[in-house]
Amino acid sequence: MGKSASFTCTACGVSHRKWSGQCEACGAWNTIVEEAPLSTGPKSKSLGANRGAALNLTDLSDSEPPPPRTHSTIAELDRVLGGGLVPASAILVGGDPGIGKSTLLLQAAARFAAQGLSTVYISGEEAGAQVRMRAARLGLSDAPVKLATATSLRDILTTLDTTAPDLVIIDSIQTMWIDTIDSAPGSVAQVRAVAHELTTFAKRKGTAVVLVGHVTKEGQIAGPRVVEHMVDTVLYFEGERGHQFRILRSVKNRFGPADEIGVFEMTGRGLAEVANPSALFLSGRGDPTPGSVVFAGIEGTRPLLVELQALVAPTPHAQPRRAVVGWDSARLAMILAVLEARCGIPFTGLDVYLNVAGGIRISEPAADLAVAAALLSAREDASLPAEAVIFGEISLSGALRPVAQTENRLKEAKKLGFTSAIVPSGGKPGATGGLALREFGDLTAFTGEIFGAG
Ligand code: TYD
Ligand code: MG
Repeated sequence: MGKSASFTCTACGVSHRKWSGQCEACGAWNTIVEEAPLSTGPKSKSLGANRGAALNLTDLSDSEPPPPRTHSTIAELDRVLGGGLVPASAILVGGDPGIGKSTLLLQAAARFAAQGLSTVYISGEEAGAQVRMRAARLGLSDAPVKLATATSLRDILTTLDTTAPDLVIIDSIQTMWIDTIDSAPGSVAQVRAVAHELTTFAKRKGTAVVLVGHVTKEGQIAGPRVVEHMVDTVLYFEGERGHQFRILRSVKNRFGPADEIGVFEMTGRGLAEVANPSALFLSGRGDPTPGSVVFAGIEGTRPLLVELQALVAPTPHAQPRRAVVGWDSARLAMILAVLEARCGIPFTGLDVYLNVAGGIRISEPAADLAVAAALLSAREDASLPAEAVIFGEISLSGALRPVAQTENRLKEAKKLGFTSAIVPSGGKPGATGGLALREFGDLTAFTGEIFGAG
C-alpha cells in the first residue's frame, strides 16, 4: 500500500497528498517537502489479545488543585504564561531569527533559577563560549543555571533523566536530532519527533520544558507551527526590525488566557520590561497630523493605546496600492468597501497606506473605526482632535458596534492624558473615567459629523 500524506509543509505543518510549489493551506512557496511518516513500530497489526493496562476512569467532578506556579519575577513574562511557570508543562517560544529568543530565555532561566528552580539551558546553536559571553553581557554570569551544548536528543534525555531539573530550555528545536529518524535535523519528522520526546519527558518527570523554534520563511527547515499542537503553551516573540520593542504573545495556553502580551525593550544589556506600553507606543507623537489617530485597544487583559497612521494619495499606477503594516489587509479592503458603498466616499484612483506605529500588530475588529478615521483624516487632510481616542467595530451595513472592555479602554486613555473618546453608541460604559464621549450609531453619521464628508 502506498503511504498517503507523505508531503508536509514546513511552514504550517499541513500534510499534502502530492508535492506542489505552493502550500494550499498557508500560501507559502517552496515549503512542501517529502517526509517519511512517523513510524510507530510494526505496521497496523490488530491489537488482538495483547491488551494494555486498564485505565483509571474518573468523574468529571473530581477536583484537582490548580497547578502550583513559579513566578519568574519578570512580570511581563509571568502574565503571558498565565501567572507563572507550571511544572511538567511544555512551552514553545517561536520567533524570527535574531529577534531575541535566546536573550529572553537566558534572562528567564536566571530568574527562575534564582527562585529555586533547578534550571538547565541546552544550546544546540551556539558554542558554550558564546552563551557565556551573552550571560556576561546580561550580568548573569553568576546565575545558578546549568549550561550544556548538545544536539543529540539521546544524550540530552540521558542527562535530563539523571538530573531531573525543574526547568529545561532547548535552544533550538531545529538543531536537535534523534537517531531513530533518518532525515536531517530541522526536518518536519525530526522536529516533531524531538518535540514529542521532550513533551513526554516533561510529563514523565514533572520538568517544565521550553522549546525554542525559529520561524522559517521557506525551505527545508520546519517552523515552530509544526509542533504547536503538541505543547501546552505557544508563545511568539515578535518585533519589527529597526524597532527596539518586542512583544511576547501567547497564542495558545492550556494554563491561562491566550492573546495575552508582554512588552519588552531590547537594550544593550538585554530585554527590559515595559510596564507602561501605551506611553511607549505613543511617544514621538507631535502635533495632530492628518491621517494619524489614537486607537484604544485591548491586548489580552491589558489596554493598549497605539497610533494608527494613514496616507492617501493619487496613484500613478493603473491599479492603486493598498499597503498595510501591523493590521489585516483583508480587513482594510472591507473598510474601504464600506466607506464607498455606505457613505459614498470612494478611494478609487488613490493609493492607501496604513501603518500601526511602533511595530506592533493589531488584530482586534475594535480598530475598524480608528482605521476608518485615519483613512478619512488622510483623505480629507483634516486631523482629529489630538486629545481624542477612538475605537469601535464596523459592520458591513455601516453600523457601528460596541466592543468589549469599553471601560478599560477609557480608563487607559484617561491615564495617558486624553480627554475625549469617539465610540459606538450603546457601549454602556459604567464609568467614562471623566472622558467626554462622542457616540455614533453608524459610519455615515460619524463621517458626516467629524469630517463633513459623505
Ligand atoms: P538573540 O537572543 O540571539 O536572538 P534569537 O535567539 O531570537 O535568534 O538576540 C539577537 C539580537 O539581540 C542580536 O542582534 C543582538 C541583540 N542583543 C542586544 O541588543 N542586547 C543584548 O543584551 C543582547 C544579548 C542581544
Ligand atoms: Mg538564539
